[in-house]
Amino acid sequence: MLQATNIAKRYGSATALHPTTLHLEKGSFTVLLGPSGAGKSTLLRCLALLQPVSEGNILVRGIGMVDTAAKLRELRRKTGFIFQQHQLILRETALRNTLNGRIGFHSLFHGLLPASPLEVEKAYACLARVGIEEFALTPAGNLSGGQQQRVGIARALMQQPEIMLADEPVASLDPQRAYEVIELLHGICRERGICSVVSLHQVDLARKFADRIIALNAGRIVFDGSPDELTESVLTRLYATSPVEKSKPDTPPALSFRAAFAA
Ligand SMILES: Nc1ncnc2c1ncn2[C@@H]1O[C@H](COP(=O)(O)OP(=O)(O)O)[C@@H](O)[C@H]1O
Ligand SMILES: [Mg+2]
Repeated sequence: MLQATNIAKRYGSATALHPTTLHLEKGSFTVLLGPSGAGKSTLLRCLALLQPVSEGNILVRGIGMVDTAAKLRELRRKTGFIFQQHQLILRETALRNTLNGRIGFHSLFHGLLPASPLEVEKAYACLARVGIEEFALTPAGNLSGGQQQRVGIARALMQQPEIMLADEPVASLDPQRAYEVIELLHGICRERGICSVVSLHQVDLARKFADRIIALNAGRIVFDGSPDELTESVLTRLYATSPVEKSKPDTPPALSFRAAFAA
């Protein structure tokens, strides 16, 4: 589905992601693990070219090499993003936030126009799929963390994505809610054949749901295999020392949903 070849990201003299080559299969559910500052968010953003890569290229099924502005728009359209902090507009209803997912399809200008009845029907179906149809007209700010993240998934589904990238989608949820949201995301991606990459801190969730686990440390892939191959010794090495962590400045804010699509 997606082939990244030697993609790298540097900020000045600092390297957030060393040259990385990765092939992601259609319908696969890949979990990214690694300590804070390892480069998980950077890799996710580079896979969808939400930010320019310093080197390397991305090849996507149905698009080819993403090397023009038109192909970049096509990649954005195919890619659903789910963020750690929901990135919802809290004063707007769950339905309205879900409808914002169509911005990927249309221009930003179109996103400001009233939604068509067909789009509203589709948004309701997305909210039903994530189990919160009854809260469609509730402002997102009045929903619980788990419900808000479900709206985030519904919004991504509005795009009918072929690729789903989720950056620590359950970092702010309690273990039970986190399990439920990842189980839901996994089920949806499976049934729709969506190629998904999800960064997580919960190793148990990675083991339970991932087809493939990729671990990053200091901007490099240090493990790439099945959950069975992720041994305790790999994990100990992965999380034991994290030199990046100590010198790491505050994690930069994730791109806002609108900024991501306006870029
Ligand atoms: N916009 C940025 N400007 C400068 N450095 C950045 C920026 N984004 C990330 N970094 C650095 O790149 C490295 C990887 O960060 P990140 O991808 O956010 O890691 P993770 O998501 O695994 O916590 C860190 O050292 C981080 O400080
Ligand atoms: Mg991150």
